Amino acid sequence: MRELNGKVAAITGGGSGLGRELALCCAARGMKLVLGDVDEKGMQETLRLVEQAHPGTESASMRLDVSSLEQVQAFADLCKSRFGSAHVVFNNAGVSVGGPAWENTVADWEWVMGVNLYGVAWGVKVFTPMLIAQGEGHIVNTASAAGWLNGPSMAIYNVTKHSVVALSETLALDLRDAGANVGVTCLCPAFFPTAIHESARNRPADKAETVQLSGEKAAMRSEMIKQAVEKGKISAAEIAEMTMKAVEEDRFYVFPHNKIPHLIRMRADAAARQGEVFDSMNPQ
Ligand SMILES: NC(=O)c1ccc[n+]([C@@H]2O[C@H](COP(=O)([O-])OP(=O)(O)OC[C@H]3O[C@@H](n4cnc5c(N)ncnc54)[C@H](O)[C@@H]3O)[C@@H](O)[C@H]2O)c1
Repeated sequence: MRELNGKVAAITGGGSGLGRELALCCAARGMKLVLGDVDEKGMQETLRLVEQAHPGTESASMRLDVSSLEQVQAFADLCKSRFGSAHVVFNNAGVSVGGPAWENTVADWEWVMGVNLYGVAWGVKVFTPMLIAQGEGHIVNTASAAGWLNGPSMAIYNVTKHSVVALSETLALDLRDAGANVGVTCLCPAFFPTAIHESARNRPADKAETVQLSGEKAAMRSEMIKQAVEKGKISAAEIAEMTMKAVEEDRFYVFPHNKIPHLIRMRADAAARQGEVFDSMNPQ
């Protein structure tokens, strides 16, 4: 979509990190905002920053748990009732939990799959018919480099992000088959500084039972991930801007970190050799 001025952006996870920066980028382009997040205070802060940087931006927000199809439907209904529609839909909310797969609890699986996979699936299910019917629109799914490369101690997260890549690619192919004027972008960043490593802050009480990481190796892995997020060299603001350019240029893949496509090629080579598992933290 070349012209975004006056159009409506629906952003999940708009109360923090990348979602907040996407909101600022959309407002900078004259878009109206509809934010959804379980963190209502975070969304109010995003809207305060938007008003400060781009006074007069029209906006709406609601408490939204993306793992609920009914709530995602209510989010789309809010876009319609407030602004008549949505044009660019950012399925961006995401959470993370560490641990080896065999130690993760059922609640770990249900929580992360619910937000990262079903959250995106419901966003696609609810919004795509609206975009097809109005004859224009764009869907941005936030996947991750973890949608291609599997670092240790992130089994559930990796599974969900691979799924988001698969869902996004298939969605783009099906929209092409349908002759729909609806673009898709699949965003695949490596680590960048946000509050993602503190995801448990917004974890629901009924899915509270989590893995008890024990031993030096687990502590080391957990610290490595925290450091990688905090020391990420590309900011959420830069990634948001790259994402907006991809929407404007109707590009599907976005890899903000140059080394990722190279590592994906190395992983494909390792798979073709049919030998040892590929270790993206220690690539050979
Ligand atoms: N930060 C990174 O290193 C990194 C790397 C690759 C991909 N990503 C992805 O970027 C996206 C944004 O994450 P971030 O890094 O900005 O983290 P963040 O924690 O700063 O923001 C995530 C937002 O999602 C919200 N959220 C959590 N559960 C929700 C739910 N059930 N329904 C609605 N909203 C919910 C949180 O309240 C928070 O505002 C995620 O999909 C994440 O997986 C992040």
